[in-house]
Amino acid sequence: MLIHSSSQLLTLAGGPQRGHALGSLGIIEKGAVLVRDEKILAVGTTDELKAAYPDEPTLDAGGCVVMPGFVDPHTHLIWAGDRANEFEMKMGGMAYLDILAAGGGIISTVKATRTASLEMLIAQTRPRILRMFAHGTTTAEAKTGYGLQTATELRLLKALLALDDESPLDLAITFLGAHAIAPEYKENPQGYVDEVSNTMLPMLKSWWETHAPRLPLPFVDVFCENKAFDLAQSRQILTKAKELGFPLKIHADEFDNLGGASLAAELGAASADHLVKTSDADILALAKSDTVAVSLPCTPFGLAECQYTPAKKIIEADAFLALATDCNPGTTWNESMQFVIALACRAMKLTPAQAIAASTINSAHAIRRADSIGSIEAGKDADILILSVPDYRQLGYRYGTNLVKQVIKRGRVYSVDMGYYRTA
Ligand code: NIG
Ligand code: FE
Repeated sequence: MLIHSSSQLLTLAGGPQRGHALGSLGIIEKGAVLVRDEKILAVGTTDELKAAYPDEPTLDAGGCVVMPGFVDPHTHLIWAGDRANEFEMKMGGMAYLDILAAGGGIISTVKATRTASLEMLIAQTRPRILRMFAHGTTTAEAKTGYGLQTATELRLLKALLALDDESPLDLAITFLGAHAIAPEYKENPQGYVDEVSNTMLPMLKSWWETHAPRLPLPFVDVFCENKAFDLAQSRQILTKAKELGFPLKIHADEFDNLGGASLAAELGAASADHLVKTSDADILALAKSDTVAVSLPCTPFGLAECQYTPAKKIIEADAFLALATDCNPGTTWNESMQFVIALACRAMKLTPAQAIAASTINSAHAIRRADSIGSIEAGKDADILILSVPDYRQLGYRYGTNLVKQVIKRGRVYSVDMGYYRTA
C-alpha cells in the first residue's frame, strides 16, 4: 500500500533525540510511505514513490499531515471504578497525598480493583484503549499497581496480556507492585518492601516466563515519593528487579525531591518519570545516562498545580525528553497524547516540533522500542497517522478535539471517522 500525497510527512528519522536535537521532524514535503504487510518498506516524495511503485494499491492522504503513531510511555490504564468524589475534594482544597494518607487515593482504587474480576477489569479498560487508539496512540505502556497483593497484581497482568492480544494498540507492560504501601502493611511499610522484593518479583519472573514466554520481561517501576517508597526502599526493589533481569522505570519527584531520578540513571533504568521537583544534580545525572526523562504535564494540570517538569533545563543539559499521559483515575484521566502536546507547549514552552518528537521517537525510547516504532523509516512497523490538518503545528495549537483521521497500525488502516473500524 502506498500512502501518498501528504502535505508534510514527518519521518522523525535518525533515532532518539537528545537535548537540543529534540524537534528534528525530518519533514518530507508531499511525502509518501510504502507499506507492505506490517512494515514500512520505503519513504520518499509522492512523485518518487509513485514512479517506483506504479501498480501499488494506494491510500490518498489528501494533502494532510502523515506522521508516526504516538507512543504513550506512561499510563496506569487498568483499574476498576473511578474517583470523581476525590476530584471534588481536591478542588475543595484537600491535598492529593493527604487523601492517600487517609486511606483514599490509590488505596481506594486498590479496593475497587481487588474486588473486580478479570472480565470486569478487561471490560472497563477496553474502551480506554480504544479511545487512546482513536486519538492516535499506537503503542502505550501500561502499569499494574492497583492490586498491591500477588493475586490481584497477577490478575492485572493477565488482563493486560489479554488486552494487548485483542487490541490494535500494542501494550508495553510494567509491574508496579510498589505503587503504594499495601493497606495490610500500613504499620510495617518495610514489610511490604521486603514482600515485593523477595516474594513478588521472583514469582513474577517465573509467572511471566510461563504466561508470556515470547514477550520480553516487563518493566519494574516504583513510586519513589514521601508517603510511598523512600529512596532506600526504591533502591532495594529496583536493585532486586535488576538482578532478576527486569528493565526498570521509576516515578520520581512528582511531589518531593528524594533523588529517584539519579537512582534511575545509576541503575540504568529506561526512564525516570514525572520529574517536577527534580534538582539540577538529578538532571545532570539523567543527561549523562541513557535514561529518558518522561514528563507528564497532565498530572500537575489534573491536580490544578502550577509547577511542571523543568523541560527547558532537561533539554539544555542534553538529556532525552519524552512525554506521556500518565492516564490514571486519581491525578489525570486523560487518554489523548494530542492534549499532552498542547499542554506541554503552553506549560513547558516546548515548540510543537519538540513536543511531537517527545511523543514519538523519544517516547519509543522510553519503553526501549525505538528500534521498531516511533518514526517512519524503512524496516520499522507501519504505525502511522493521517491527521485531518495540513500543517503539523496544528498539533499543540489546537486541542480538545481529535485531529487524527486515520490510524494505520502494523499496516492495517482504521478510520477514526468511521468509529475505529478496520476499513482495509
Ligand atoms: O502517576 N504517582 C503515582 N501514581 C499515579 C497516580 C495514581 C492514582 O492516584 O491512582 C500518578 O500520578
Ligand atoms: Fe504514574
